[in-house]
Amino acid sequence: MVYQLIFSPTGGTQAVANALAGGQVIDLCDRSVNFSAVTLTGQDVAVIAVPSYGGRVPEIAVERLSKVQGGGARAVLVCVYGNRAYEDTLTELADTAQAAGFRTVAAVAALAEHSIARKYAAGRPDEADKAVLKDFWRKIQAKLDAGDTTAPALPGNRPYKKRGVRSIVPQAGKDCTACGRCAAVCPVGAIDPAAPKVTDNSKCISCMRCIAQCPVHARSLNPVLVAGLELALKPLCSARKENELFL
Ligand SMILES: Cc1cc2nc3c(=O)[nH]c(=O)nc-3n(C[C@H](O)[C@H](O)[C@H](O)COP(=O)(O)O)c2cc1C
Repeated sequence: MVYQLIFSPTGGTQAVANALAGGQVIDLCDRSVNFSAVTLTGQDVAVIAVPSYGGRVPEIAVERLSKVQGGGARAVLVCVYGNRAYEDTLTELADTAQAAGFRTVAAVAALAEHSIARKYAAGRPDEADKAVLKDFWRKIQAKLDAGDTTAPALPGNRPYKKRGVRSIVPQAGKDCTACGRCAAVCPVGAIDPAAPKVTDNSKCISCMRCIAQCPVHARSLNPVLVAGLELALKPLCSARKENELFL
């Protein structure tokens, strides 16, 4: 059985995972799941996919993945980033997966639209990316069919890069109908369902899921902050980066 263990607040990570392989989704964004009850076996293959946040695995994804019982399942690790850099994300994901009982057999660093500075990696994964990922999945399958469970060498350092501070919190605008969709889908429960125009800044992880899922597009970031970030990222993000494959 192939599983997708995915943390994908705005869908880019999910799109990359889907381009690799389908599978039964275990949604690491879903606060209602009892992750301790998720149990895999050595026969299973798990695509474990997360975005890079400041070169790290999002903290809540580490917390939830750590509860899963890997049971020796073979893991294909996927880190998705917005064309800046992913630094220690794959190393941290490999360590987390190992501690949860997975055996890493392959890994990918792939590109998807930067969910805050959206002009970077816009339109990715594109058709060329998807073809690369599909082809890589065939190579992974051949490795598994050969009974090879060796772990690939991955880029990244220990100790990991220090986590960045979160300071960019989406706000509800005048079109907000207080439908509560944002509160329901927020991975960390930072939005009060009874008063969705209020976000708890101390809980918000700046994942942009509330903006992506608002049915009336009433949530947004301060455009001045986004413009400043896009400018700061320009020298780091402008040249197209390619998927990196580790087998
Ligand atoms: C809080 C936050 C931090 C991010 N940090 C990085 C980063 O360090 N490097 C990078 O290239 N992209 C970064 N990104 C962009 C995401 O990794 C990228 O957009 C990813 O595709 C988002 O996944 P999703 O669409 O599944 O939510 C960051 C995005 C967010 C929301």
